[in-house]
Amino acid sequence: MPNARAVLLKIKRQNTPTSKSYWEEFELPYHAGMNVISSLMEIAANPVTREGKATTPITYDSNCLEEVCGSCAMLINGKARMACSALIDNLEQPVKLEPFSKFPIVRDLATDRSVLFENLKAVKAWVPIDGTYDLGPGPRMTAEQQEQAYPISRCISCCCCMEACPQVNEDLRRRRHHRAGAAVQHPSHGQSVTARAPGGSDGRWRDPGMRLRAELR
Ligand code: SF4
Ligand code: FES
Repeated sequence: MPNARAVLLKIKRQNTPTSKSYWEEFELPYHAGMNVISSLMEIAANPVTREGKATTPITYDSNCLEEVCGSCAMLINGKARMACSALIDNLEQPVKLEPFSKFPIVRDLATDRSVLFENLKAVKAWVPIDGTYDLGPGPRMTAEQQEQAYPISRCISCCCCMEACPQVNEDLRRRRHHRAGAAVQHPSHGQSVTARAPGGSDGRWRDPGMRLRAELR
């Protein structure tokens, strides 16, 4: 057990996409309000393991640091969640950090989640605007439809749903069906909640799951 004013982290590491993984432990001085990303920054400033062995900084993704971009998602004590909002105060120690298990490893805690963006491209899950010009009035939606669409349009593309979903497994990945997931359903559905027929005149599929299944056949 670390002393009362220390934080113990146990981190799964992997140097290359194909090399063997290994674990390293780090002990950091406790600061009020520290979170997993600030802990990884402290390790980067002084990459020495708990045993006093010099090592390399941990590789991970992050950007916004306010749970908006989704890039820092990883397994924290076995749960898929964002590292920037994971407060050390609320985590059982040692804090175990692992990369997502269902995506190719880039290095350490960084994984290649580009499949999600390929999915979004496949179902044209974006509002088609390029530049600033008058698009005319948007589609009319009832207040009830807005209530339904807004929450599901807040997806931040973190891939936590795909990591946690039991349907995304080795068998499906072999058959390339791991492309589908809530992450793709959500933004597309959010944009098209008013029109649910498969295949719109704008090329946007109203049911992205149907489009993906058709593409993967
Ligand atoms: S739908 Fe999936 S990718 Fe989007 S925010 Fe939720 S867990 Fe993250
Ligand atoms: S760094 Fe953007 S969600 Fe954590």
